[in-house]
Amino acid sequence: MLLRVPNVLNAEELNHLRQLMLQADWADGKVTAGTQSAQVKRNIQLPETTADAEAARLIVLKALNRNALFFSAALPKKIYPPLFNQYRDGMDFGAHIDNAVRTHAISGMHVRTDISCTLFIADPESYEGGELVVEDTYGHQIVKLPAGDMVLYPGTSLHHVRPVTKGARLASFFWVQSMIREDAQRTLLFDMDAAIVTLRQQIGDTAAVIRLTGNYHNLIRMWADT
Ligand code: NI
Repeated sequence: MLLRVPNVLNAEELNHLRQLMLQADWADGKVTAGTQSAQVKRNIQLPETTADAEAARLIVLKALNRNALFFSAALPKKIYPPLFNQYRDGMDFGAHIDNAVRTHAISGMHVRTDISCTLFIADPESYEGGELVVEDTYGHQIVKLPAGDMVLYPGTSLHHVRPVTKGARLASFFWVQSMIREDAQRTLLFDMDAAIVTLRQQIGDTAAVIRLTGNYHNLIRMWADT
């Protein structure tokens, strides 16, 4: 499932993140790439250990924490501490699949990359190119979202970022290890959760709605790895 999560960041958070990112010292993006992806990765990143990166991470994590759509879709067990990148002056990232397990350099935490997340920070009108292209079973999905919106897609997907030919593309990216490892099971639970929420609004907590809600939780109990 490829899912757009709108309005993850508000205007104040976007401004704060842009200020932090514009004043920061950047490093070559290859530092967090695997050996195959390092050959095709041409961008710059905020080094993880700086105070600016820490402040930026906290803004994103706080925003994720209040986002019900993100939780329903990702059912997160672990979130890799968000990273920040920038593409400008023709930078791009060729086709690759993200490493299956990321080990956080500072904490040593291992995260299986069930879900890849890109949170757009720059206004899409402020740069040209920079589309994220994700190959899924229905073909190529081309993603370039308004600032503050996020896309989630399965970590198993081949993807690339097109060259940025004008302006600068600022984004946060990170991975989620889900309590539900398989994308198909997560998608089913996400659809079921959305249907139950709609039913509750339309007809209230009838006996059937209560049983369906129980089914949702029982499926999670059956499949979840906590
Ligand atoms: Ni990637």
